Amino acid sequence: MKEIVLNEEEIQEAVKRVAEELKEKFKNNDSIPVFIGVLKGAMPFMMDLLKYYDLPVIEDFIQVSSYDGTSSTGVIHLKKDITENVKNKDIVLIEDIVDTGTTLSYLKQYFKIKYQPRSITIVSFLDKKPLRKVDLDADFVGVTLTKNQFLVGYGLDYNEIKRNTPFIFIPDENEIDEWNKILKNNEEK
Ligand code: IMP
Ligand code: MG
Repeated sequence: MKEIVLNEEEIQEAVKRVAEELKEKFKNNDSIPVFIGVLKGAMPFMMDLLKYYDLPVIEDFIQVSSYDGTSSTGVIHLKKDITENVKNKDIVLIEDIVDTGTTLSYLKQYFKIKYQPRSITIVSFLDKKPLRKVDLDADFVGVTLTKNQFLVGYGLDYNEIKRNTPFIFIPDENEIDEWNKILKNNEEK
């Protein structure tokens, strides 16, 4: 491990703050907001967020992918759609991280055109600013990152593994070599 970027305590603190901000926004809402988690990365964040967001909420999930290894491919694939009816509803898209912004700007357009919600709010646990390619800003952010580093943990993966680490860290080269061996070995099974 090269460096721990956010430990468990720092993560929980940021999640609590975002939950409070969302409660403030929706406390007098005339309809129940639909929180849509972007699988798989947003899972730990969404679970924690909903523990602190103790107001009525409907949950749903969508799955897209754009990443291969340690970099974004820029091409988005929709792998799983939502199941709730969100027409004229307030939807809240929940993501682990905004990097180039491609995924969330795609999703925003997708929801607007296909489902016509009343509003779309974007919540991302992390906001990685340096690699932004499209003009996309999250409405609520847990932690803003100013450096372009590949991170792992708390939902963030390396080729699908390591999402289940309760803190966020920068892996070192030896670790990545080790993971590549494990992954290669798994492929051959
Ligand atoms: P974007 O479309 O470039 O904004 O990328 C967003 C998606 O890329 C996120 O939902 C993550 O799944 C993934 N991603 C971006 N940065 C990282 C990282 O540092 N580690 C792991 N996954 C990342
Ligand atoms: Mg993601």
